[in-house]
Amino acid sequence: MEKTRLVILTNSLTPNLPLAANGLLANECRRSPLASVACISNRGGGSPETCISVMLTLNMDRKRIAVVPGDGIGKEVIPAAIDVVRATGVPLDFSDFDWGADRYLRDGYTIRNEDFAMLEREFDAVFVGAMGDPRVKSNVHAKEILLGMRFQMDLYANVRPVKLLDASLCPLKDAAPERIDFTVIRENTEGVYMDMGGTFKRDTPDEVATQEDINTRKGVERVIRYAFDYARRHGRKRVLMADKSNVMSYAGGLWQRVFQLVAKEYADITPQHMYVDALCLQMVREPQSLEVIVTNNMFGDIITDLAAALQGGLGMAASGNIHPGKTSMFEPVHGSAPPLAGKNVANPMGAILSGAMMLEHLGFESEAKRMETAVVAAVKEKMLTPDVGGTKGTAEVVKFIAKSVS
Ligand code: NAD
Ligand code: IPM
Ligand code: MN
Repeated sequence: MEKTRLVILTNSLTPNLPLAANGLLANECRRSPLASVACISNRGGGSPETCISVMLTLNMDRKRIAVVPGDGIGKEVIPAAIDVVRATGVPLDFSDFDWGADRYLRDGYTIRNEDFAMLEREFDAVFVGAMGDPRVKSNVHAKEILLGMRFQMDLYANVRPVKLLDASLCPLKDAAPERIDFTVIRENTEGVYMDMGGTFKRDTPDEVATQEDINTRKGVERVIRYAFDYARRHGRKRVLMADKSNVMSYAGGLWQRVFQLVAKEYADITPQHMYVDALCLQMVREPQSLEVIVTNNMFGDIITDLAAALQGGLGMAASGNIHPGKTSMFEPVHGSAPPLAGKNVANPMGAILSGAMMLEHLGFESEAKRMETAVVAAVKEKMLTPDVGGTKGTAEVVKFIAKSVS
């Protein structure tokens, strides 16, 4: 791995400069375990300030990615996607973390609050595989690691693009790529996922269980605003909010009121509303009518599995868990698929497309586009794993895609 060295030059007129510069750079050094600072004297003169700014720029150019493959096929598709990301030539440094079922079963460790703080401080993005292992029945590690990142790092917008790359992948008759091209923005930090509730008279015939659906004004407003901004950035003209306000009147009422208020600020975008059950029908019958959908955490989870089916299956679907301006996390939509693990059959495309989303988010737009184009080429060439009707193995598909982007 390449090491970024920061060299501070100084002269006898500014003897305290190395100390001051160390302070300035300390933040950068903490963020990158690979950076080192050397203070040397600049006997030949020259402006030390200039040197510092040059060195800082050098260090900032490289982005740091925390990699968490997790469980099952996550351990195959994430290294595969990283091969493709590397093939683009982007200046990234990767650091692996072994959080997942094996580690949990070995020493009981899932993740701690300090880890979330470390990810935010030291990394520009996090790239995650999947969490879930039949040996961990409680699924506690998935909850603490995956939902932990979403909640503790406040990654409030779960962006899940739904794009059909080739008609052959779609189970709908009359499918065409131009008919299926929309994005679901799922609220990612609230709702029933907050795990608030309890049981009363447990294990008796009178047992009562509650599971609260938490919706805050702040949480609802920021994700709706994100959806409108996303629509603008991507040249979309419509944002559709989906809820179940005919039944869940308090939470739905808040979503409705906030949606209408925020929509007024975006005169160029048409606001639309559907009940989430009706939206499921629409997604299958008229997917071409959809552009940007914004919805709560649970509805977003459910409709994006349906949406994944339109794209060819879970193996094709990508996502980003985003808080603008903060360290964000990228992961394929699929889970750890335990029966497929270790067999070289997992579809790496969802992970690769998630890697492309990460590059786009970090400002490497052309490289992200190259990755998407290479995936489309692989689909056209039938470089496909069995879940999408192909006969190739994970490794062969990745080799093809990595070669096309390099
Ligand atoms: P899953 O996504 O692992 O699998 C669902 C179906 O899709 C299976 O038939 C599987 O074989 C197929 N599939 C998924 N990804 C594929 C790929 N890349 N290539 C080929 N086929 C693929 O969902 P599940 O079976 O409901 O869950 C398995 C475990 O994963 C559970 O422990 C669950 O909690 C967990 N899970 C984790 C995440 C995550 O970490 N983001 C998401 C969903 C499920
Ligand atoms: C997803 C998954 C997760 C979720 C699970 C694994 C907790 O299904 O990312 O869609 O429900 O959000
Ligand atoms: Mn899901």
